[in-house]
Amino acid sequence: MRILVGVGGGIAAYKAAELVRTLGVRGHEVQVAMTRAAGEFVRPLTFASLTGRKVITDLFSEEGPIEHIAVARDNDVLVVAPATADLMAKFACGLADDFLTTTFLAFTGKVVLAPAMNSAMWLHPATQANLSTLERRGCSIVSPSDGWLACREMGPGRLAEPAAIVEHVEALMRTKRDFEGENFLITAGPTQEALDPIRYISNRSSGKMGYAIADAAARRGASVVLVSGPVSLTPPPQVELVSVRTAQEMRKAVMDHLAEATIVVKNAAVADYYVASVPQQKLKKTAARLSLELDPTPDILAEVGEKKGDRLLVGFAAETENLVEEARRKMLSKHCDMLVANLVNREGLGFEADNNEVEIITRGGKTAHAGPAGKRQIAEQILDQIALLRLTLRAVDASA
Ligand code: PMT
Repeated sequence: MRILVGVGGGIAAYKAAELVRTLGVRGHEVQVAMTRAAGEFVRPLTFASLTGRKVITDLFSEEGPIEHIAVARDNDVLVVAPATADLMAKFACGLADDFLTTTFLAFTGKVVLAPAMNSAMWLHPATQANLSTLERRGCSIVSPSDGWLACREMGPGRLAEPAAIVEHVEALMRTKRDFEGENFLITAGPTQEALDPIRYISNRSSGKMGYAIADAAARRGASVVLVSGPVSLTPPPQVELVSVRTAQEMRKAVMDHLAEATIVVKNAAVADYYVASVPQQKLKKTAARLSLELDPTPDILAEVGEKKGDRLLVGFAAETENLVEEARRKMLSKHCDMLVANLVNREGLGFEADNNEVEIITRGGKTAHAGPAGKRQIAEQILDQIALLRLTLRAVDASA
């Protein structure tokens, strides 16, 4: 792939060097363009050494104007990392006062933005509005992560890891449209079960796995409804988002959208228990021990399993031991066609993490293994297995 990497003027510009190096190692042709401010953080020589090409730093050079139209035309994808608040504002407004902003306007291929900035700047309504505008216009966003920022604060705004940006770009450019005509209903994230008006029980699900599946399914041509518990992720473009908080709300949203669904993927980490009668007032702290009476939440997957008809039903299992045995038991008891099982007690995998490793089990007894790898890549592999299973089930139907 021919990739134009636009480097914005933020401290995360130093990470763009690793991004450019990795893209090159993976066989892509990379051209770098830097803003003037980016040059304050990293020298063009760094990128020139990594790409073996002159870095574009200005609209004009000694030899005359740089052909931004030709650069825009000659690249398959424009990746901007770090995409600063200033750059996103300019892109959203259509300002064209340097090489990168001018090329952005002239670029007709896919655009990937990897924002990075201080948390307050990221959360500012102006930045979020610009982000929404750019997403609506088709830019693909690699969301920043939470963590330690250069301004010595913790919070959202840290540039996604270069490997995650590479994975995002490669996934975006895959052209398979093998789910055209399918309607996916996907659940993701945790649920929150109230204890009183301000407190709740929940779990560490970030939604990353479910959102990656939704994004991949939409890019592969499916129409996607994503029922999501509370997470801090930007919903993928071309996906209908239904936001819910509790298990009961998730159940209702799933049942409301079940009739149109042809493939259901239950990735959400639904709370198993809730407080049936939530007090109206905040629980008071006393010296006495507090006991909570919890009731089981509705098992949404089991209910979908009972009503599944000829839909393809994929469940998930989060286990800390006996992964395959437990997964198989859940698959059969909840009438799933496929179950994706992950161990969730390993550092850097499963809940919250960017990576995962899964066993994919089907009713016919076939198993496949995916990972450890980024959740986007795992999502693609899960979809590949769903496509295979769909073929098998169709063949069985045809021979019946
Ligand atoms: O969100 P991330 O941070 O990216 O992490 C991803 C993940 C680890 C949460 C995800 O990959 C995962 O494992 N999701 C399933 C979590 C879970 O609730 O597993 P379980 O084994 O407790 O439930 C089995 C299945 O029943 C799941 O499909 C679940 O959605 C469903 N269920 C469970 C309880 C309930 N009341 N209703 C349900 O539908």
